[in-house]
Amino acid sequence: YPENYRQMVDAHELLRKFYHHLLVNTDEGQPALEYLLKRGFSKESIDKFQIGYALPSWEFVTGFLQKKGYSAEHMEKAGLIIKRDRDGTFFDRFRDRVMFPILDHQGNTIAFSGRALGDDEPKYLNSPETPIFNKSKILYNFSKARSSIRKHQHAILFEGFADVIAADRSGVENGVATMGTSLTGEHVSILKKNVQNITICYDSDKAGIEAAYRAAVLLNDAGCTVKVAMMPSGMDPDDYIRKYGEEKFRNEVIGSSSTFMSFKIQYFRRGKNLQNEGDRLQYIEEVLKEISRLDKAVEKDLYLRQLADEFSLSLDALKQQANQSQDNGKGQP
Ligand code: GTP
Ligand code: MN
Ligand code: MN
Ligand code: MN
Ligand code: MN
Repeated sequence: YPENYRQMVDAHELLRKFYHHLLVNTDEGQPALEYLLKRGFSKESIDKFQIGYALPSWEFVTGFLQKKGYSAEHMEKAGLIIKRDRDGTFFDRFRDRVMFPILDHQGNTIAFSGRALGDDEPKYLNSPETPIFNKSKILYNFSKARSSIRKHQHAILFEGFADVIAADRSGVENGVATMGTSLTGEHVSILKKNVQNITICYDSDKAGIEAAYRAAVLLNDAGCTVKVAMMPSGMDPDDYIRKYGEEKFRNEVIGSSSTFMSFKIQYFRRGKNLQNEGDRLQYIEEVLKEISRLDKAVEKDLYLRQLADEFSLSLDALKQQANQSQDNGKGQP
């Protein structure tokens, strides 16, 4: 463990409890609590995920940690306070934000993400990289979700904290999320060690669909069985649950997710006009290339038939071209 690991984690644990107390028990926390309840967070979720509130103060945490005997230098390294260049004094990093504690995979608080209550930028302010927090290795909610993930051999991968928490409220307790970054090789290997089946449930907007495609490729390459859940355009899981309810989310989003292949087919269709000959040929070629990569003959046959039906093409011609794509693929490095 890094030097001062225990001290840094203890300070985070202390602040997690304090931020939570401020949110649920004090007048100062009332507007933040109302914001969360209005957004559909339940009291149970607020407790379970230990959501809190950071006061709109420049020195509250700085003073609080000092009084508790933590050295300012160490607390700065831990990302909780910031040093002023001007005079070497310190101020609080998180001010007037809803605080989401970030736990390591053993359940220790090692970082925070603070959400602005209004339209302030940035929307989410995260702890920086510190000796105890490496965001490319942390999956939000993994410590709580692990037992459910292992038991069912199924994990759901979300884009945001709010989505994980809304899903949990809906009874989907095997959800995790990256820390606002794309999925890394380290995330993939943590998932791969614990679970075979992974459903990606990112936001149904352009950024989310692109990110879902990249995550699906990485997880599939690692040998996981990947599915992709989609929502009506523009929505994220949290929006969906609020609009359509928990049961519809479980059945019609998670329960109706697409196989990786069928997601890829939908993905290739995006932005193309299939009435247009050039687009149509490009689409057919892209799908054939993917079909040629499938291992199972039965799967190949299924998607070739689907493609043949879709464009009234001869199955033989498609088979022949799929075999050609495969031969071409073999020569490549
Ligand atoms: P809400 O607007 O609160 O519902 O958040 P969201 O989870 O829907 O946010 P969004 O889809 O915009 O982004 C997904 C994830 O990216 C968030 O959960 C954050 O982890 C991260 N993220 C979003 N905005 C910011 C930002 O301004 N700064 C940083 N560092 N991360 C962000
Ligand atoms: Mn619950
Ligand atoms: Mn998004
Ligand atoms: Mn979102
Ligand atoms: Mn959202």
